[in-house]
Amino acid sequence: MKKDPEVSCARMIERQLERRGIVDPRVLKAFRKVPRHLFVPKECQEQAYEDYPLPIGFDQTISQPYMVALMTQTLAPTEASKVLEIGTGSGYQTAILAELSGTVFSIERIGELSRQAEERLRLLGYHNVSLKCENGMRGWPQFSPYNHILVTCASRTIPLPLLSQLESEGRLVIPLGGPVTQVLTLLHKQKEKMDLKEICECAFVPLVEDD
Ligand SMILES: C[S@@+](CC[C@H](N)C(=O)[O-])C[C@H]1O[C@@H](n2cnc3c(N)ncnc32)[C@H](O)[C@@H]1O
Repeated sequence: MKKDPEVSCARMIERQLERRGIVDPRVLKAFRKVPRHLFVPKECQEQAYEDYPLPIGFDQTISQPYMVALMTQTLAPTEASKVLEIGTGSGYQTAILAELSGTVFSIERIGELSRQAEERLRLLGYHNVSLKCENGMRGWPQFSPYNHILVTCASRTIPLPLLSQLESEGRLVIPLGGPVTQVLTLLHKQKEKMDLKEICECAFVPLVEDD
Protein backbone atom coordinates (compact mmCIF):
# COMPACT_ATOMS: atom_id res chain seq x y z
CA MET A 1 0.00 0.00 0.00
CA LYS A 2 1.58 3.31 -1.14
CA LYS A 3 -0.59 5.63 0.98
CA ASP A 4 0.20 5.75 4.70
CA PRO A 5 -2.70 3.79 6.27
CA GLU A 6 -2.49 5.79 9.51
CA VAL A 7 -2.87 9.09 7.64
CA SER A 8 -5.73 7.70 5.51
CA CYS A 9 -7.45 6.34 8.62
CA ALA A 10 -7.16 9.65 10.51
CA ARG A 11 -8.59 11.53 7.52
CA MET A 12 -11.45 9.02 7.22
CA ILE A 13 -12.31 9.47 10.91
CA GLU A 14 -12.31 13.25 10.69
CA ARG A 15 -14.08 13.73 7.34
CA GLN A 16 -16.43 10.75 7.15
CA LEU A 17 -17.26 9.99 10.79
CA GLU A 18 -16.83 13.02 13.09
CA ARG A 19 -18.27 15.51 10.58
CA ARG A 20 -21.36 13.29 10.18
CA GLY A 21 -22.11 12.94 13.87
CA ILE A 22 -20.16 9.91 15.03
CA VAL A 23 -19.18 11.34 18.40
CA ASP A 24 -18.86 8.38 20.79
CA PRO A 25 -15.17 8.52 21.81
CA ARG A 26 -15.02 4.73 22.33
CA VAL A 27 -16.27 4.14 18.78
CA LEU A 28 -13.78 6.64 17.33
CA LYS A 29 -10.94 5.02 19.30
CA ALA A 30 -11.87 1.59 17.90
CA PHE A 31 -11.79 2.99 14.34
CA ARG A 32 -8.35 4.45 15.01
CA LYS A 33 -7.11 1.05 16.20
CA VAL A 34 -8.49 -1.44 13.62
CA PRO A 35 -6.44 -1.49 10.36
CA ARG A 36 -9.24 -1.53 7.75
CA HIS A 37 -6.77 -2.02 4.88
CA LEU A 38 -6.00 -5.52 6.21
CA PHE A 39 -9.67 -6.53 5.79
CA VAL A 40 -9.96 -5.84 2.03
CA PRO A 41 -8.46 -7.72 -0.94
CA LYS A 42 -4.89 -6.59 -1.84
CA GLU A 43 -6.06 -4.92 -5.09
CA CYS A 44 -8.46 -2.66 -3.08
CA GLN A 45 -6.08 -1.67 -0.28
CA GLU A 46 -5.47 1.85 -1.66
CA GLN A 47 -9.22 2.48 -1.39
CA ALA A 48 -9.72 0.90 2.03
CA TYR A 49 -10.35 4.23 3.79
CA GLU A 50 -12.53 5.78 1.07
CA ASP A 51 -16.17 6.69 1.61
CA TYR A 52 -17.81 3.64 0.02
CA PRO A 53 -18.22 -0.13 0.39
CA LEU A 54 -15.72 -2.42 -1.36
CA PRO A 55 -16.01 -5.91 -2.86
CA ILE A 56 -14.63 -8.77 -0.75
CA GLY A 57 -15.43 -11.60 -3.19
CA PHE A 58 -18.38 -14.02 -3.44
CA ASP A 59 -20.63 -11.04 -4.46
CA GLN A 60 -20.32 -9.59 -0.94
CA THR A 61 -19.02 -6.26 0.36
CA ILE A 62 -17.28 -4.68 3.33
CA SER A 63 -19.64 -1.87 4.34
CA GLN A 64 -18.83 1.85 3.99
CA PRO A 65 -16.85 3.06 7.06
CA TYR A 66 -19.59 5.53 8.05
CA MET A 67 -22.24 2.79 7.99
CA VAL A 68 -20.08 0.52 10.19
CA ALA A 69 -19.60 3.43 12.62
CA LEU A 70 -23.28 4.37 12.65
CA MET A 71 -24.38 0.78 13.29
CA THR A 72 -21.81 0.47 16.09
CA GLN A 73 -22.77 3.76 17.73
CA THR A 74 -26.46 2.81 17.51
CA LEU A 75 -25.84 -0.65 18.95
CA ALA A 76 -23.86 0.95 21.82
CA PRO A 77 -22.04 -2.10 23.22
CA THR A 78 -20.12 -1.77 26.50
CA GLU A 79 -17.06 -3.59 27.87
CA ALA A 80 -19.40 -6.07 29.56
CA SER A 81 -21.54 -6.78 26.47
CA LYS A 82 -22.08 -10.14 24.84
CA VAL A 83 -22.71 -9.39 21.15
CA LEU A 84 -24.05 -11.52 18.30
CA GLU A 85 -23.29 -10.42 14.74
CA ILE A 86 -24.98 -11.94 11.67
CA GLY A 87 -22.85 -11.57 8.52
CA THR A 88 -19.13 -11.65 9.44
CA GLY A 89 -18.06 -10.77 5.87
CA SER A 90 -14.44 -9.54 6.03
CA GLY A 91 -14.45 -9.45 9.84
CA TYR A 92 -13.88 -5.67 10.01
CA GLN A 93 -17.12 -4.88 11.84
CA THR A 94 -16.40 -7.90 14.06
CA ALA A 95 -13.02 -6.40 15.03
CA ILE A 96 -14.64 -3.02 15.81
CA LEU A 97 -17.19 -4.80 18.03
CA ALA A 98 -14.41 -6.82 19.69
CA GLU A 99 -12.63 -3.56 20.64
CA LEU A 100 -15.77 -2.35 22.43
CA SER A 101 -17.35 -5.49 23.91
CA GLY A 102 -16.66 -8.34 26.30
CA THR A 103 -17.34 -11.15 23.82
CA VAL A 104 -18.43 -11.28 20.20
CA PHE A 105 -20.08 -14.20 18.40
CA SER A 106 -20.31 -13.83 14.62
CA ILE A 107 -21.95 -16.02 11.97
CA GLU A 108 -21.22 -16.05 8.22
CA ARG A 109 -22.83 -18.41 5.71
CA ILE A 110 -19.96 -18.35 3.15
CA GLY A 111 -17.23 -20.73 4.34
CA GLU A 112 -14.27 -19.02 2.65
CA LEU A 113 -15.21 -15.55 3.99
CA SER A 114 -15.57 -16.99 7.49
CA ARG A 115 -12.18 -18.72 7.19
CA GLN A 116 -10.43 -15.57 5.94
CA ALA A 117 -12.02 -13.45 8.69
CA GLU A 118 -10.95 -15.98 11.33
CA GLU A 119 -7.34 -15.84 10.09
CA ARG A 120 -7.28 -12.00 10.10
CA LEU A 121 -8.80 -11.73 13.56
CA ARG A 122 -6.39 -14.35 14.92
CA LEU A 123 -3.34 -12.55 13.44
CA LEU A 124 -4.55 -9.27 14.95
CA GLY A 125 -4.87 -10.94 18.36
CA TYR A 126 -8.62 -10.83 19.00
CA HIS A 127 -9.23 -13.51 21.63
CA ASN A 128 -12.77 -12.45 22.54
CA VAL A 129 -14.31 -13.46 19.18
CA SER A 130 -15.93 -16.76 18.16
CA LEU A 131 -16.93 -17.35 14.55
CA LYS A 132 -19.02 -20.02 12.90
CA CYS A 133 -20.07 -20.81 9.37
CA GLU A 134 -23.81 -21.37 9.20
CA ASN A 135 -27.06 -19.64 8.27
CA GLY A 136 -27.39 -16.83 10.82
CA MET A 137 -31.20 -16.74 10.56
CA ARG A 138 -31.26 -19.23 13.43
CA GLY A 139 -28.92 -17.18 15.61
CA TRP A 140 -26.54 -18.96 18.01
CA PRO A 141 -28.80 -20.29 20.79
CA GLN A 142 -25.97 -21.98 22.70
CA PHE A 143 -24.57 -18.65 24.01
CA SER A 144 -27.82 -16.67 24.23
CA PRO A 145 -29.17 -14.38 25.55
CA TYR A 146 -27.18 -11.57 23.93
CA ASN A 147 -27.11 -7.94 25.13
CA HIS A 148 -26.74 -6.73 21.55
CA ILE A 149 -27.44 -8.24 18.13
CA LEU A 150 -26.20 -6.67 14.89
CA VAL A 151 -27.42 -7.90 11.50
CA THR A 152 -25.17 -6.63 8.68
CA CYS A 153 -27.41 -7.77 5.81
CA ALA A 154 -30.91 -6.76 4.71
CA SER A 155 -34.10 -8.52 5.79
CA ARG A 156 -37.82 -7.81 5.27
CA THR A 157 -38.53 -8.75 8.89
CA ILE A 158 -36.62 -9.39 12.11
CA PRO A 159 -35.93 -13.16 12.26
CA LEU A 160 -37.83 -14.51 15.30
CA PRO A 161 -34.93 -16.65 16.63
CA LEU A 162 -32.85 -13.46 16.89
CA LEU A 163 -35.58 -11.68 18.83
CA SER A 164 -35.86 -14.54 21.27
CA GLN A 165 -32.06 -14.64 21.76
CA LEU A 166 -31.95 -10.94 22.71
CA GLU A 167 -31.97 -10.29 26.48
CA SER A 168 -34.89 -8.45 28.06
CA GLU A 169 -33.22 -4.99 27.88
CA GLY A 170 -31.24 -5.71 24.72
CA ARG A 171 -30.64 -3.71 21.53
CA LEU A 172 -30.83 -5.12 18.01
CA VAL A 173 -29.80 -3.22 14.87
CA ILE A 174 -30.88 -4.42 11.42
CA PRO A 175 -31.44 -3.02 7.89
CA LEU A 176 -35.16 -3.68 7.28
CA GLY A 177 -36.66 -3.58 3.79
CA GLY A 178 -36.49 -4.95 0.25
CA PRO A 179 -33.51 -6.04 -1.84
CA VAL A 180 -32.59 -2.53 -3.12
CA THR A 181 -32.99 -0.15 -0.18
CA GLN A 182 -33.78 -0.55 3.48
CA VAL A 183 -34.11 1.45 6.68
CA LEU A 184 -31.49 0.88 9.33
CA THR A 185 -33.61 0.12 12.38
CA LEU A 186 -32.92 -0.06 16.11
CA LEU A 187 -35.10 -2.35 18.20
CA HIS A 188 -34.76 -1.75 21.93
CA LYS A 189 -36.42 -4.38 24.12
CA GLN A 190 -37.65 -2.87 27.38
CA LYS A 191 -39.25 -5.45 29.69
CA GLU A 192 -42.94 -5.32 28.62
CA LYS A 193 -42.50 -3.41 25.35
CA MET A 194 -40.28 -2.98 22.32
CA ASP A 195 -39.24 0.40 20.92
CA LEU A 196 -38.51 0.62 17.19
CA LYS A 197 -36.49 3.57 15.92
CA GLU A 198 -35.68 4.30 12.27
CA ILE A 199 -32.10 5.54 11.92
CA CYS A 200 -31.53 6.18 8.18
CA GLU A 201 -31.93 4.79 4.67
CA CYS A 202 -29.33 2.24 3.65
CA ALA A 203 -28.47 -0.39 1.02
CA PHE A 204 -27.18 -3.77 2.16
CA VAL A 205 -26.73 -7.17 0.51
CA PRO A 206 -29.63 -9.49 1.41
CA LEU A 207 -29.83 -11.83 4.39
CA VAL A 208 -30.07 -15.21 2.67
CA GLU A 209 -32.98 -17.14 4.13
CA ASP A 210 -32.78 -20.63 2.74
CA ASP A 211 -29.62 -22.69 3.09
C1 LIG B 1 -22.48 -6.39 4.01
S1 LIG B 1 -21.70 -7.94 4.28
C2 LIG B 1 -21.02 -7.76 5.90
C3 LIG B 1 -19.84 -6.89 5.94
C4 LIG B 1 -19.11 -7.03 7.23
N1 LIG B 1 -19.81 -6.42 8.33
C5 LIG B 1 -17.71 -6.49 7.11
O1 LIG B 1 -17.28 -5.68 7.95
O2 LIG B 1 -17.00 -6.90 6.17
C6 LIG B 1 -23.04 -9.06 4.69
C7 LIG B 1 -22.58 -10.47 4.97
O3 LIG B 1 -23.71 -11.22 5.40
C8 LIG B 1 -23.58 -12.54 4.93
N2 LIG B 1 -24.89 -13.22 5.00
C9 LIG B 1 -25.96 -13.05 4.20
N3 LIG B 1 -26.98 -13.84 4.60
C10 LIG B 1 -26.52 -14.52 5.69
C11 LIG B 1 -27.09 -15.50 6.54
N4 LIG B 1 -28.35 -15.92 6.39
N5 LIG B 1 -26.35 -15.98 7.55
C12 LIG B 1 -25.06 -15.55 7.75
N6 LIG B 1 -24.47 -14.64 6.96
C13 LIG B 1 -25.19 -14.12 5.95
C14 LIG B 1 -23.04 -12.35 3.54
O4 LIG B 1 -22.45 -13.54 3.06
C15 LIG B 1 -22.06 -11.21 3.74
O5 LIG B 1 -20.76 -11.67 3.99
